[in-house]
Amino acid sequence: MRLPLLLCAVCSLALAFNLLRAWNATQTRRPALTEYSAHSRAALGVTTPSLRASQRAASPPTIVPPAASPRAAVPETAAATPPPYPETVGASLSNYSGTPHVELWGALVLPGDANLQPDAPRCHQSCVEYEPTRDVLNGSQCNVWVWHPLTQQCWLKHERPAELRAAASALARPGRASVAWTSGVWTGHKPCADCVVPARYYGCITKDICNTSRACGSPAIDGYAHVDPKCVQRSPTAQLYNELLANGSELIGTHELNADYDGLGVHWGIGHTKQRWEDCEQACRQHRPGTGGGPFAALPCNVWTWCSRPTCFEPDAHSHHFGDCWLKFTELPHAPEVNMREPMRSSFMRRHHTQMAAGVPWVSGALLPPGVTMTNGTWGPRAFW
Ligand SMILES: *[C@@H]1O[C@H](CO)[C@@H](O)[C@H](O)[C@H]1NC(C)=O
Ligand SMILES: *[C@@H]1O[C@H](CO)[C@@H](O)[C@H](O)[C@H]1NC(C)=O
Ligand SMILES: *[C@@H]1O[C@H](CO)[C@@H](O)[C@H](O)[C@H]1NC(C)=O
Ligand SMILES: *[C@@H]1O[C@H](CO)[C@@H](O)[C@H](O)[C@H]1NC(C)=O
Ligand SMILES: *[C@@H]1O[C@H](CO)[C@@H](O)[C@H](O)[C@H]1NC(C)=O
Ligand SMILES: *[C@@H]1O[C@H](CO)[C@@H](O)[C@H](O)[C@H]1NC(C)=O
Repeated sequence: MRLPLLLCAVCSLALAFNLLRAWNATQTRRPALTEYSAHSRAALGVTTPSLRASQRAASPPTIVPPAASPRAAVPETAAATPPPYPETVGASLSNYSGTPHVELWGALVLPGDANLQPDAPRCHQSCVEYEPTRDVLNGSQCNVWVWHPLTQQCWLKHERPAELRAAASALARPGRASVAWTSGVWTGHKPCADCVVPARYYGCITKDICNTSRACGSPAIDGYAHVDPKCVQRSPTAQLYNELLANGSELIGTHELNADYDGLGVHWGIGHTKQRWEDCEQACRQHRPGTGGGPFAALPCNVWTWCSRPTCFEPDAHSHHFGDCWLKFTELPHAPEVNMREPMRSSFMRRHHTQMAAGVPWVSGALLPPGVTMTNGTWGPRAFW
């Protein structure tokens, strides 16, 4: 039986699109203020300290902190004798201004359970040091921080200018004793390095950052929803590879360890196991259009991705296992759209830190016409999922 949907190398269209929508929702939606409860992580599916816990935090330090936060078992007294400030922290403390018993709201840039800080000044400092990235609120600054003395969670947030003015006046008033949080704002500016379009770019990170030299655009830009197999079949790259196959040209293999290149699946990889990456490359070489099934069956194979570990993470709904060999087609295979590569983007690593703990588990490669030089290519949209 042929698999009903042969799609992008490592995800199915519907699932990928839903995933993108979910991602899109968490990244670009601007919910009503009430949804931005300082320590609420509903969108990320993380349990948060209850209000009771935060109220109790204000009471004497005999309270046992919530068991869920392993490093949080620090009684309030510990905050009174924090470790000495490193020099960099000391320097910026001249600008430190935090107000106890205030909990500011804002859109989340970094969750507090991933950012424990021993005291409020160091929470402030982590806001100062936060590097904006395109895939978190489109490169927004950290301009608000909220620190909890019991759990030591330091939540970094972004507020728009009007909200920030309201925050400043909230900070100028005395807080409410029942609120355990300490809050502050930072109005400096940090550049967003990956918001700058690379001087040379092959593909699309977003719809506004797009090199249209890929005749059919960037497949993953909307979770593969727009991809028209006919367009891809007519693309200059597909025509070239069909000619090369027809006249028996020997293609030149290149490969990269710890890398995952994007592409449209011409042969589904789950269960298509090969013992070594070399065998996966060979399978790509031997693949002929029309034999793989699915919407992209008519395309030749020019990139491949092989799973080198017992399990291999992808931000999709599938499980990927050792030996899975995905055969793919991409426009401009000498300049691939890279889903993952070592060192992987730090915001991606933060988002998927559990699954990516051992680094990028994939090996990828391309088959190029003689004389064509392989390049690094550029990050593809999936590097931002
Ligand atoms: C992503 O969000 C934007 C803005 O909210 C919306 O216009 C767009 O349709 C969304 N895309 C998807 C795939 O949901
Ligand atoms: C403190 O604030 C002043 C003025 O706002 C700024 O010039 C200076 O760089 C800041 N110092 C640090 C260490 O952030
Ligand atoms: C994201 O930020 C860039 C500037 O870095 C801006 O040009 C673009 O319009 C922003 N997109 C959204 C959806 O806010
Ligand atoms: C767009 O892609 C072409 C290759 O197809 C490349 O030559 C060109 O430099 C790219 N343009 C930008 C602005 O990255
Ligand atoms: C095969 O086709 C390619 C692409 O059209 C061409 O560059 C190459 O010279 C051809 N090789 C032979 C042996 O005909
Ligand atoms: C390609 O990536 C490597 C490793 O990150 C880097 O050293 C090299 O400068 C890159 N090449 C180009 C042309 O960007």
